[in-house]
Amino acid sequence: MKTLVLFGSARANGHTKAMLDLFLETLGGEVEIIDAYRTELEIAPCKDCRFCWHKNGCSIKDGMVSVYEKLEEADNIVLASPMYFHSISGKLKTIIDRLQPYWASCLRKDKPEAFRKTGSILMVGGAPSFENQFLGGELVLKNLLKDMSIHFTGEVTLPNSDRDSLETRPDIAEEIRALAQKVREANGL
Ligand SMILES: Cc1cc2nc3c(=O)[nH]c(=O)nc-3n(C[C@H](O)[C@H](O)[C@H](O)COP(=O)(O)O)c2cc1C
Repeated sequence: MKTLVLFGSARANGHTKAMLDLFLETLGGEVEIIDAYRTELEIAPCKDCRFCWHKNGCSIKDGMVSVYEKLEEADNIVLASPMYFHSISGKLKTIIDRLQPYWASCLRKDKPEAFRKTGSILMVGGAPSFENQFLGGELVLKNLLKDMSIHFTGEVTLPNSDRDSLETRPDIAEEIRALAQKVREANGL
């Protein structure tokens, strides 16, 4: 199983990374991480030129070209982000906006009918748990998976990361292992 991770934390070794490491430990297989804040790939913002409304691809030929290739090759996608002002982080959003060619498949009428890959979401919020704490991130990331015809396997969220961690929340650590196991099974492992 090939996994591509889109990793959106500004901190290289914060809670988002701890969640991702634990997930990948159970998941196994071949893993590639696009680290939105540290990648050497130059990734410009989407300019809404509407090229992708008519052609399957992007008019901007930058670092995203290799991200598109890696996405196509992957069996499994992991989206990992902290909550920044009730949504995902800015650098990750820049990459996600460049996935507009997938959304535009509905205009081009070449959207694959079958779900082709598995996809999971990991999110962290510093504030103590409150209603809809992760809603903004969920709307972005779940709809992205849908637009990419990726089967949503599940999500795990860690609230209160200003005080808690996977050490103080072994229940959430267990949820992460269980989700990774579910992804393995969905990929026939
Ligand atoms: C700019 C910014 C905005 C934030 N907004 C939220 C928020 O809306 N909700 C929340 O629960 N935590 C918020 N936080 C806290 C982070 O989600 C939290 O510190 C998280 O642990 C960061 O991820 P990391 O540990 O991987 O660095 C914000 C932090 C920053 C820097």
